[in-house]
This record gives sequence, structure tokens and C-alpha cells, in this order.
Amino acid sequence: MKRLSTIVILLCSALIAGAQPDTLRVLAVGNSFSRDAVEQNLHELGAADGLVIIVGNMYIPGCSLERHYSNAVDNVPDYEYCKISADGRRTVRPRTELAYALADEPWDFVTFQQVSHDSGRYETFVPYLPYLLDFARKIVPEKTKFCWHQTWAYDSDIVRDTFVIYDRDQTKMYNDIAEASRKVCDRYGLKLIPAGTAIQNLRKTVFGRNSITRDGYHMNNTLGRYAVACTWYEALAGRSVEGNDYAVPFMYDAQIPAAQKCAHLAVVRPFEVTNPGMDNPPANYDVAKIPSYTLPDPLTFANGKKVRNARQWMKRRRSELLSAFETEMYGRAPGRPEKLHFRLLRENKDAFGGLAVAKEVGIYFSDDESQYIRLLVLTPRDANGPVPAFLGVNFQGNHAITTDEWVSMIGPDEYSRYGRYTEYPRGNNARRWPIELILSRGYGVATFYRGDIDPDWDDSFTNGVHKLFYKKGQSYPEPDEWGTIAAWAWGLSRALDYLENDPDVDGSKVAVIGHSRLGKAALWAGATDQRFAMVVSNCSGCGGAAISRRAFGETVRTINNQFPHWFCGNFYKYSDNEAALPFDQHELLALIAPRPLCVASATEDLWADPEGQKIAAEEAVKVYRFLGYEGMVQYHTREGGHDIVAYDWNYYLDFADQKLSHFSVTK
Ligand code: GCU
Repeated sequence: MKRLSTIVILLCSALIAGAQPDTLRVLAVGNSFSRDAVEQNLHELGAADGLVIIVGNMYIPGCSLERHYSNAVDNVPDYEYCKISADGRRTVRPRTELAYALADEPWDFVTFQQVSHDSGRYETFVPYLPYLLDFARKIVPEKTKFCWHQTWAYDSDIVRDTFVIYDRDQTKMYNDIAEASRKVCDRYGLKLIPAGTAIQNLRKTVFGRNSITRDGYHMNNTLGRYAVACTWYEALAGRSVEGNDYAVPFMYDAQIPAAQKCAHLAVVRPFEVTNPGMDNPPANYDVAKIPSYTLPDPLTFANGKKVRNARQWMKRRRSELLSAFETEMYGRAPGRPEKLHFRLLRENKDAFGGLAVAKEVGIYFSDDESQYIRLLVLTPRDANGPVPAFLGVNFQGNHAITTDEWVSMIGPDEYSRYGRYTEYPRGNNARRWPIELILSRGYGVATFYRGDIDPDWDDSFTNGVHKLFYKKGQSYPEPDEWGTIAAWAWGLSRALDYLENDPDVDGSKVAVIGHSRLGKAALWAGATDQRFAMVVSNCSGCGGAAISRRAFGETVRTINNQFPHWFCGNFYKYSDNEAALPFDQHELLALIAPRPLCVASATEDLWADPEGQKIAAEEAVKVYRFLGYEGMVQYHTREGGHDIVAYDWNYYLDFADQKLSHFSVTK
């Protein structure tokens, strides 16, 4: 009998425990860095693990310990108090005092931190921190444990002055932060939340290599914020975050275990960087190891029926294929914005030593002109009328494509619209843009900087054009909506919208050109916008002209790992799963038909799979032929590495002489 009642009591207490999950109450006294850490994901990580986490964040932008201290002394209601309750609801209480928030819940943990740029300078913590600890101790219950939020180091390419404290060196900044956090925890008996170490670990992985911040300082809304929340979770809940199955919306699946592992390693070794060994798998360069594959037939409909004639291709199959590429790979982009408008910003009728008419044109997408393309248009000065032209995005800014002093430099005032910007010297990329050659052959050149449309790192689409087109309440592209490559392609179409109106350019004879990632964009622009009269893909490789199924050099997995912002979310499911793709890249090339198309590789550029690009071009020719066109696809290989040089341009100019001049796009 005794035994039975013991079992009953045990059962009842188990039931009660089951009905009332553990609750953790966490208050952060911080700024935008604590906002990155706790206002999303932390509650959800708990929920996925049977733990209720009530979160508070006391937020003032850029708030230092000194300011928290004087706010406490004077009871200043300067905080925005964000609270996430037990049921996950988020409320924001403006004009709140520290004392209010400290008394608002029986907090298990209250965390402090220093403003990010001083977070590696212990000498700035005192006397403010000890005062704040005394102040809080009088308000919170005895059980409350005080913690230190170790913030993270900046990206190395940011321009902010305060980075000078650390010689503009990320490693130095991290080491100083780690050391200061060790000291402060030892001295005041604080529990450490080693977010800075977790982020530094993540930067050692392929997922963190191309930045996990949105502006060089703050975590991006996906991987960065998630990794920080994982660190908070493991440090405070005392449970391993590895294997937690909270699925962060819009995050690339492969990033989740990486963030968890980096957080876990940081909690285990909080003051040193641990390389979690999560790099891309080694690339295959062995022809014998190319998987056997069957290329989908562009001339067969998805339902298995054959395309019978050119009309069926142009009217039905082409759009079927285009929409598959759109929803599964590049993402759907908006059309031409209603409020699109242009302004001639500068003009020089005697530029480039008398060779060119040069213009800088602003292309604006809405009444808000803060986001715009600065298009550089150069046409031969001695032209008798509108000329055919090459249009392409550039990597480093318009000023980098030429040494000509007339072209505007991207100045510090403009950095803010890119979030951050690496300064490239004037003419740094001129080798790739043989302007004199192009002009002397009777062609114009138009180009803009990639950051004008979307800065090229995974900032969760906070910079760039995406946000201009969100529906109400939307904060991230849907899985079938445009990534960065589709955005660049969209920008190329907007530039063409302008060129059609430029009196010096023949808008019906514009060739879209691009190298590498910008070659991927040129191909997608050519596929989606049939106004482009010719398309040039130079070393565009994976996600461009190279056959994905060959998995030679760069693969779908490696490109998604390293550049999760390039394609749409749906493309993630094809990592290591190329056979499931409903298309392959020869069909992207076929979408250009019957317009002239150049595809080029370089012998040493194995990462971009020269052979795979050649096969794609050859396969696309079959569609051109089906449509009754011969000789419209040109393929060349250059000796050497991943680049675009005058040698390549000569091929494109020759082909344009032959084809572009005779091939007009019918509007
Ligand atoms: C990386 C990337 C390629 C890309 C290239 C570039 O190597 O893996 O896909 O084409 O950068 O743009 O130069």
C-alpha cells in the first residue's frame, strides 16, 4: 500500500511538473546589441525546449554603462522597455525608468553590457557597473543573478571612427572584448554570456565568412541574431542548444547547426575562438567523380509532352521554364515601379580626353529618392546617332572602372546607403573595363555599382531595394521572392528603362554583360527581360552558365552556404540535391534564345567549371536551332584565371558587330 501511494504521489508531481513548465525570467539592460540578442529567437528557443522564457530588454540606442548609471541615479525614463511575455507576446513600453523594469518581474537574470565600441575597454566599465549592480540589487529578489553580455567585434571593413580604438582590427577588438569580459566577471562575480566568442567562432565557418552583420556592427536578422540568442539560451538555461528544433523563419537550414555549435563551443570555451571546422566540403575537380546525371530536356513540357514548334516554345514552354527558375532559384522580382523616374545628374560632352560623352544618371524607384542607381553612361563623342551599348553591373563603384577623374567617387556620405562600403581606389578595376576600346569600336558602355541595388552580403535584406517592395508587415522576402542576384538583374532592367530614353543610345541594341556573380545576374536579366538584344556571361559559373548537376568546382551546396542571399529561399532545398532541380542551367541559356548569346570560360577557372559552361552553351544551341537560328551562341575559353579582360571584350565586340547590329528586339 505504501508503495502504491508513493507511486501515486510521484505520478501526480510529474503531472504537475508537466503542466507547469519551467520559467526563466531574463532582463537585459543594454542597447541595440541586446536588442539583437534577446528580442527574437530567445523565447522561441525556450519554447522548443519546454522552457518558458520571459524576456525584457531595456533599450536606448548606443547606450553606455555611464549613461545607464546616470539614468539610474536620476531615475530617467529614457528607455524603450520591450517585453516578451510567457505566451510570446511582445509589448513595448516607451519612456520607462530602470527601476520600473527591474521591479517588473522576479528576474532570474539581469544582464549588463558596455556600448559596443568600449566593450574591450575594462577601464570604461568602472565605476558605473558596480554602482548599477548595487542599484539593481536593492530592487530585484535575492535569487537574481547578474550577468555580463560579452558583445561581439565589428566586421573588419567598416569605416566608423571608434574602430580606431582597436586599430581597425577585428581580431584585436575580439581579444580585448574577451579579456575585458573575463576581468569583469572575475571581479564582480558575474555570469558570462559569451556572445562575442560565439560570433567569432561563426566567422571561422563558411556560414559566417561573408558577414553575419547587417551593417558591420549589428547582427543580421537571420543567422547573426539566431547565433547570439543560442548563446544566451545555452548560457542562461544551462541546457545545450545543440539539436534545438526551433525553425527560424527564412533561415537556411544548414546554418542552424552551425550557429548552435558555435554558441555551444563559446559557452564551453568563453574566452577563446574555437574553429568548429565547418567549412565547405572540398570541391571536386576530378572528371571521373562527376556524378552521372541526365539533363532535363528544354523542349519537353513539365507534363512530359514535347514542344512541337517555335510558337509553342515562345508562348508556353518558355514561360513555364522561366517561372520554374523564378520560384525555385532566383526568386520573383517586382516589375517596373510605377514611380520610376530618372534625372540627369551630371554630363560632360567632352570626357575621356575627347573620346566620350559621359553622363551620370539617377534612377529612382519611388518618391523616396534615398535608394537609387547612379548609372554611368559613356557613348562615343563622334557618333552620328544613337549607338548600341553594353550594360553591366560593376563590383567596386563606377569610379573604379576608370582612371578618368570626371567620374564621381563613392564618398563617405554615400556609405550609409550601402550600410558599409569598402573604399576602392579610382581605376582599381579599369583592367576589366577597356572603355577606350569599346568606344572606339562604336559602342556605348553603361554601368552601376552593385551596392546601389543590393549590397553584397547577407544582411537579411535590410539594405538594398527589397524593402521598398515589401507588403504591409513583411520584413523578409518569401521563399520564392528575389534574392540579390535577381535584384541586380532587376536593376539592369531599370537601367535599360532609362537607356531606352537616352538620345545617345539605341535602346533596341543593348547587350547585357557581367562577370562572375554579375554574369549570373546578366544571364538572369537576359532571361527575364527580352528587351536585352544580346547577353554576355563571362565566367559566371555555378548559378550562371555552368551545369549544376555536374557538381564540379562550386556546387549548389557551397554557393548556398557561402552566399545565402544570392538566390531565393526555395533554392536551399537543392543543396546536395541537384538531381531534384526541375531544370538545369542550359535551360537558362535557352531562355535567351533566339537573341545573340556569348558564354566564356577561362582555363584555370575550374571553380566555375569551364566544361560545364561549354556543355550548357552547346545544349542551348539545340533550342536556338529548333527556333530556326544558327550561329547565335558564341563560346570561348581564354587561357588564364577567373577574370574579364580586353581579350574577352574583343570576342564580345566582334560578336556584337556580327549579330547585335543585325538583330533588333521587337518591342
Ligand atoms: C565566388 C563565388 C562564385 C562567384 C565569384 C565572383 O568565387 O563562389 O560563384 O562567381 O565569387 O563573383 O567572383
